[in-house]
Amino acid sequence: MATAKAHTNIALVKYWGKKDQDLIIPQTDSLSMTLDEFYTTTRVVFDPALTAEQITVNDQPVTGKGAERITKFLDIVRQMSGRQDFARVDSHNHVPTAAGLASSASAFAALAGAASRASGLQLSRRDLSRLARRGSGSATRSIYGGLVEWHRGHDDATSYAEPIMEKLDFGLEMLAIMINTGRKKISSRHGMQSSVITSPYYASWKEVVANDMETMKAAIQAKDIPAIGHIAEENALRMHALTLSADPGYTYFNNETLTAIQAVRQLRDQGINCYFTMDAGPNVKVIYDRRDRERIVDGLAQTFAPERLVVSPAGPGIEIWDENNRLI
Ligand code: DP6
Repeated sequence: MATAKAHTNIALVKYWGKKDQDLIIPQTDSLSMTLDEFYTTTRVVFDPALTAEQITVNDQPVTGKGAERITKFLDIVRQMSGRQDFARVDSHNHVPTAAGLASSASAFAALAGAASRASGLQLSRRDLSRLARRGSGSATRSIYGGLVEWHRGHDDATSYAEPIMEKLDFGLEMLAIMINTGRKKISSRHGMQSSVITSPYYASWKEVVANDMETMKAAIQAKDIPAIGHIAEENALRMHALTLSADPGYTYFNNETLTAIQAVRQLRDQGINCYFTMDAGPNVKVIYDRRDRERIVDGLAQTFAPERLVVSPAGPGIEIWDENNRLI
């Protein structure tokens, strides 16, 4: 038995497209910040007495496609470890409000940590990030805290994450604007594949990312928050251009996403350095220097209820506990 806790991450230079869909080898490098406020804790027990996998998320049994994806992941762990038993998996997503910011990044990073340890494997952080990648691409980066780079690599051995700055020594912070949607979401898995195959802009996107990785790393070294925010915002808009330019075209934005973007731009027009980014959903995350936090929260609270604004500094990397509750 083992338990792991992993935090979610938000990409500043996005991953949007795979080269190998089975191994989850991405088309490009990417770079993210791990968030303190959003995390998943998962306990895994391999038990010879079980006749099927037993999976719960937030105390609710998981069946169907969700269970299949977890079992497929556990099969990889069984293959690596030689362990044959079914597993009991209990997972909890910790998000501050009802609006979902549960992510496959923290989920598969925590599952990788708990399942590998419970199966008897003792993987290095790098090998854990390779394993997490097999569950969900963005999970590769959630093994580490702070600012993290995922090297795209060219095969299973070379596609892994590495920390750029595990503990931030400057004021970079994010705020999530929780935007609810009733609409059925196009999964990032499906959406990004459609962009790779059908967007005429996909080749340019790869050049954009190569350039953004360089300028973003330089901005991080310089601790230049306006530069980090500006590059991240442009990168996010260009990623979302791949959804609009796919065939059929689609978007993750809704009306409130655009309202939030406008609110951030208005604050910027007032001289406050804040920038936005969005992933495969309508929520907007704001990037800024923590010393401007109050002014930004006050400004956004004119449009969004305070409980929908969740501030998060950078968070830590994965923590794993063994069967004796010892942190390893
Ligand atoms: C927009 O990691 O969810 O958040 O690898 O198919 O599981 P799969 O996709 P996923 O995609 C994340 C896309 C993104 C950008 C990012 O996190 O880099």
